[in-house]
Amino acid sequence: MANFIKKYLNLACYALIFSTVTSACQNQEQTQTENSDNTVKLTEQTNITQQEFGKMPDGRMAMLYTLRNAEGMEVKITNYGGTITHWTAPDKNGKYEDVVLGHDSLSGYLTASPYFGCIIGRYGNRIAKGKFTLEGQTYTLAVNNGENHLHGGLQGFDKVLWEATPIDGEEPALKLTYLSKDGEEGYPGNLQVEVTYRLQKDNALRIDYQATTDKTTVVNLTNHTYFNLLGHTEGDILGHELMLNASAFLPVDKTMIPTGEIRPVKGTVFDFTQSTPIGARINDTKDEQIKFGIGYDHSWVLNPPTEKDGLNLVGKVVEPNSGRILEIFTTEPAVQFYTGNFLNGSITGKRGVVYKQRYGFCLETQHYPDSPNKKNFPSTVLKPNETYQTSTLHRFSVN
Ligand code: GLA
Repeated sequence: MANFIKKYLNLACYALIFSTVTSACQNQEQTQTENSDNTVKLTEQTNITQQEFGKMPDGRMAMLYTLRNAEGMEVKITNYGGTITHWTAPDKNGKYEDVVLGHDSLSGYLTASPYFGCIIGRYGNRIAKGKFTLEGQTYTLAVNNGENHLHGGLQGFDKVLWEATPIDGEEPALKLTYLSKDGEEGYPGNLQVEVTYRLQKDNALRIDYQATTDKTTVVNLTNHTYFNLLGHTEGDILGHELMLNASAFLPVDKTMIPTGEIRPVKGTVFDFTQSTPIGARINDTKDEQIKFGIGYDHSWVLNPPTEKDGLNLVGKVVEPNSGRILEIFTTEPAVQFYTGNFLNGSITGKRGVVYKQRYGFCLETQHYPDSPNKKNFPSTVLKPNETYQTSTLHRFSVN
């Protein structure tokens, strides 16, 4: 009897294993069907597709994923740098335009990209002279911006190939992971990073960042999308109206490192507490800070959240002609507002468009620049048993 039960159980086990393997294969088949436009449908739902984007210098293939929602919004993301390459948003007449700057193929990103649309890490913005001291040890980072370290160094997270996992559904998502090795660009600790982009039903893109380390290190991740709410082919962003939920900003020295002062915006050209055209005061040559930045290229300190949990309002951008509105929310304490000051017409991007100065703006949610060297700034230190976790949401609507 005991033998019979054993045999029966064994048979049941084999049957279970067999059916699991077959259904996995069936799923596999379902997940790989070819569309007429060369993109590959990943499941029966069509809210996420993938296609080849181009070969890396070492021969690896970078992929391009297209996320779509029922409203008709489309976001394309490559696993090269976790870069958002295209993002369509409707205007007041329901017309969708691509509202981000970028390139049509991988080669453009490999040869000429001032951080278009990418994930920035291990540290967003500058660290003075590429040096900081942590738990009594001084670390020297790659220096790639005059005498300073910028956006993670010579090969930051924007220039590496991430592991990608597409997640289909009504709100399709792309999960990207990357292991930044101990010593990479000079940083201590193996840092395991995960970034998930999720396209929501309400025309919002949510970005969740997560990281863990095996040695105490510093982390400050962000996304560097250049927006132009008129459409990326349509010229400068000076007529866009901006409101920032920030009563203070961080003045910088002439090498763009914060001085440590937290200065109220009141009475300065940095006051965006009331909605103001970006171009209204951007050429105020009497303002030393505008001169240092060649426009706006500063960190604004966000007003504390009104709710304890959840996302805090960063600001709102309104483009009056198209009626497009972009609102941003975050868990981060600051935002770097950059007005494409270094774009100078030397880069030809998507659809052959020449990107000139101020053709795009960035709102990079993050901790303050140079925090590892500033005791009065919120800490960017991550310890081995902690999890770095931040989120930012970009929501489009119309007037
Ligand atoms: C950030 C910096 C700028 C510039 C851009 C990329 O916003 O603050 O100074 O480096 O990135 O060109």
